[in-house]
Amino acid sequence: MPDPMHFDRLADVYDRARPPYPDALWRRLGDLGLLVPGRRAVDLGAGSGQATRVLVEAGLDVVAVEPGPALAARLRRAVPAAGVIEATAEAAPLVAASFDLATAATAVHWFDLGVVLPRLHRALVPGGRLAVWRNVFGDMEAPQTPFRERVAQIVAQRDAPPRPGPGESETATWTGALSVGGWFAASHVEEFRWRITLDAEDVRGLFTTFSDWTPEEASQAAAAVRDLGGAVTEHYVTPLIVLDRT
Ligand SMILES: C[S@@+](CC[C@H](N)C(=O)[O-])C[C@H]1O[C@@H](n2cnc3c(N)ncnc32)[C@H](O)[C@@H]1O
Repeated sequence: MPDPMHFDRLADVYDRARPPYPDALWRRLGDLGLLVPGRRAVDLGAGSGQATRVLVEAGLDVVAVEPGPALAARLRRAVPAAGVIEATAEAAPLVAASFDLATAATAVHWFDLGVVLPRLHRALVPGGRLAVWRNVFGDMEAPQTPFRERVAQIVAQRDAPPRPGPGESETATWTGALSVGGWFAASHVEEFRWRITLDAEDVRGLFTTFSDWTPEEASQAAAAVRDLGGAVTEHYVTPLIVLDRT
């Protein structure tokens, strides 16, 4: 069973192994009026600050919520301008009507939405927005690649059952899950497609950070990159769901 504290044990690897979010996503958040300097944002499941950092650079006044102590410590050092609350999204003490924006970057799938959505509704001002996005390695709509075939072979050797809940890139299912309870209504849904070139060590680091991959499997993926010439260009998809507080 994937463990949400997996990331905390890999705090040192996480920040350098995970690619940043695409510029097109940040541009869209700006176009949608979400990155207004001086507005107050809460970034949930902030990790080492991949998204928090950009929100701060955009001029927002940011509080980051992160339950992992090693990640929270790293975040405090990396983004000193952000306030950091070391807690889960379910338990973080958020003052009522104190934020204009809530964000969750590659994190919402860890939350108990039945608890978190009403809490965010309370923490946001009227007219507040919730923006949820995630980087998903391997765009299933892109043509199959030799590396993805090798990845599929590694995964096929597992006997663990697949994770419950919506799949990684099922954007419509997530949009529905975030609308349950009527606390939020989706106002913008978009998927950003992009590519990245990775060498064997990039792949080992990246796959080690995936919560359902073992270090041995990550080594097998790195070996596959070496077999395929030392570098692979792979597809990512980044679904974005923006919701308005009802
Ligand atoms: C894949 S990482 C994403 C981190 C960061 N937002 C980013 O974009 O790189 C998922 C994060 O969610 C955090 N997390 C797990 N369960 C959580 C919960 N219930 N509430 C808040 N954060 C949680 C993990 O500690 C981890 O930092």
